[in-house]
Amino acid sequence: MKRRRASALAIAVVLVAGAARGADELDFRGAPKTGWSRAELAKLVPAQQVRVWDPYELREIELEAFPMNAVLDATFGARWRERDEILMTCKDGFQPSVPVQRFLKHRAWLAFRRIDQRDFELLEHDVTPPVRVELAPYYLVWANLDDPQVRAEGDLGWPYQLVAVEPVDFQAHFPKLAPPAGAGEPVRQGFLAFRSYCLPCHTVNGEGGRVGPELNYPMNVTEYWHAPALRRWILDPRSVRSRAAMPSIAPGLADREGMVDTVITYLEAMATKKVAP
Ligand code: HEC
Repeated sequence: MKRRRASALAIAVVLVAGAARGADELDFRGAPKTGWSRAELAKLVPAQQVRVWDPYELREIELEAFPMNAVLDATFGARWRERDEILMTCKDGFQPSVPVQRFLKHRAWLAFRRIDQRDFELLEHDVTPPVRVELAPYYLVWANLDDPQVRAEGDLGWPYQLVAVEPVDFQAHFPKLAPPAGAGEPVRQGFLAFRSYCLPCHTVNGEGGRVGPELNYPMNVTEYWHAPALRRWILDPRSVRSRAAMPSIAPGLADREGMVDTVITYLEAMATKKVAP
C-alpha cells in the first residue's frame, strides 16, 4: 500500500484529533479502558529495540517499540485473537485493516521513537521527489529481516501517525461494503482487492477511509467516469490529472492490471447496491 500525501483536510483532522487526546495517547476502541498514554503502556509491556527494513525509506532502520501482540493482550485481553481484523486509524483518516492472522503468524511492533536519528520521521523514498513524513504518535512496523513473506509484501500494513486500533469482525463492522446478494466470483475477488488497496483511503456507502472521496453514493464512479479513463486513472492517476493526490496503487504488484480490472468489476456491481451513509 502506497501512502498518501498530506492535504488541507488532513490538517483539519489533526487539529481536532490533537485537541481530543494527549500527544502520545493511543485509542484502543472497544477496550475496557480506551485511551492509553505511552507511560501507561510501558508499565505493562517493556519497550525493545528493533531493526527492520523500512519499505518507505528503503533501507534498514532502528526503532524503539512495544511488541504489538503483547500490547493488544494487555489492552483488549486475549479475545482479540478470535476477531477477523485489526482496523487502524491514522491522523488524516487513512484507515487500513490488517487480518488478525497476520499478527499471529508474523511479528508486529508499535514503534514510538527512532534510535538511529533524532526526529521520529522518515524520508519516503518510494515517491519522487522523496517527502519527509512525521511518524508520531505511533508507527506500526513488522519484523521483516528474517521474514521473507512480510518483506515481499512491502508496506502493506505499515501505518504511521497511528491514533487508534480496533479489533473488528469485517462483515459486522462494514455491512454496507459487501457485494450485492448473488454476486459472482469475479465481484467477490474484486471486493477483496478493493479492501486491501482502496478501502484504506476511500469509502463505499460511507464505510472506509477518509483520505479520498466516496465512490458509490449517491452516484457510483462507474456512472460518471467513462470506462477507459477510470481504468487509466486507477493505474496511473497522474496520467489523467497533473496534480492528482491519489498515488499510483501497488506499483510492484505482479498482476496489477488484473487487480485493477477486478476492482472495477466490484465498483460496477456496487452501483446496484446504494445505501445511504
Ligand atoms: C493513499 C490514498 C488512496 C488510495 C490507496 C486510493 N485512492 Fe483513489 N483517490 C485518493 C484521493 C486523495 C483522490 C482524490 C482525487 C485526487 O487524487 O486528486 C482519489 C480519487 C479517486 C477516484 C476519482 C473519484 C472522483 O469522483 O473523481 C477514483 C475513481 C479512485 N480514487 C479510485 C481508487 C481505487 C479503485 C483505488 C484502489 C485500487 C484507490 N482509489 C486507492 C486517494 C487514494
